[in-house]
Amino acid sequence: MKKYKKRDQFKEEKWKYPFSIVPIFATPVAGYQLDHKQYNKHLDKVVDKTPVSEYPAVHGGVTAYDPKIAKEHRENMHILGDKALEPLLGEIQDCVDHYMEKVGFKPAAIVSSWFNILEKDGYVDAHRHKHSYLSGCYYHTCPEGSSPFQLHDPKAGILNMNKNKPTAKLKRGKEERIVDVEGYWHREKFTAYTYEWTDVPVNSGLLFLFPSYLGHRVKPCKDLKEGEQRINFSFNCIAKEHLEDYTKWAKKHFYDKELDHTKCDERNQ
Ligand SMILES: [Fe+2]
Repeated sequence: MKKYKKRDQFKEEKWKYPFSIVPIFATPVAGYQLDHKQYNKHLDKVVDKTPVSEYPAVHGGVTAYDPKIAKEHRENMHILGDKALEPLLGEIQDCVDHYMEKVGFKPAAIVSSWFNILEKDGYVDAHRHKHSYLSGCYYHTCPEGSSPFQLHDPKAGILNMNKNKPTAKLKRGKEERIVDVEGYWHREKFTAYTYEWTDVPVNSGLLFLFPSYLGHRVKPCKDLKEGEQRINFSFNCIAKEHLEDYTKWAKKHFYDKELDHTKCDERNQ
């Protein structure tokens, strides 16, 4: 019964009457600034030697995401698992451990990683990471004009989930959208409860952690100069206690697949 007592105490701390609005169900996102210079040389080498390709969600850039293409790393698509990156991976794992402990979850293990390269005007469509419950980005190279990383409020999606709903056209800036009349969040002003997307400014050496259920994207890097590149490493984690089961599953779904190099970027072949 001890657990229930603790939970009740937590509730009492938050609710103050005669009136309260309480930000329930907090979402833990975390940033760690790492001393990145020590890792740059090794990261550059890994970026140079890893095959990359175009990918439907990545525009104006390339990615090492596709396990069919990342031949050398295809066994687990874990590019941060390269021997030369051991110190960086160790530091990232320390941050993951710290985050999970602070948030109150059991330890997590990094199980897959890749990198994306965006050039001027490059962007990444909104997406979520499957087969993961904690995700992260480590920013290797972030020139000044790099666009922020953006996270999406999952509640905004839930409000639009009803099928056969009455709809209306809503103007949002120049954009006209068909929205769900019953469920759409009709924002009057921006408050802590009404914004849908939030920016995370990025810079070289930033490590950013977020729950994998959050949708995210990168807006077009309009301010990058020609020839500049925004390079980030992304990764997924699962609960350490499920590592064995995950490895069996990954073997079935990743390891034994046929390779297909048809979309590879030629510079890396
Ligand atoms: Fe992503």
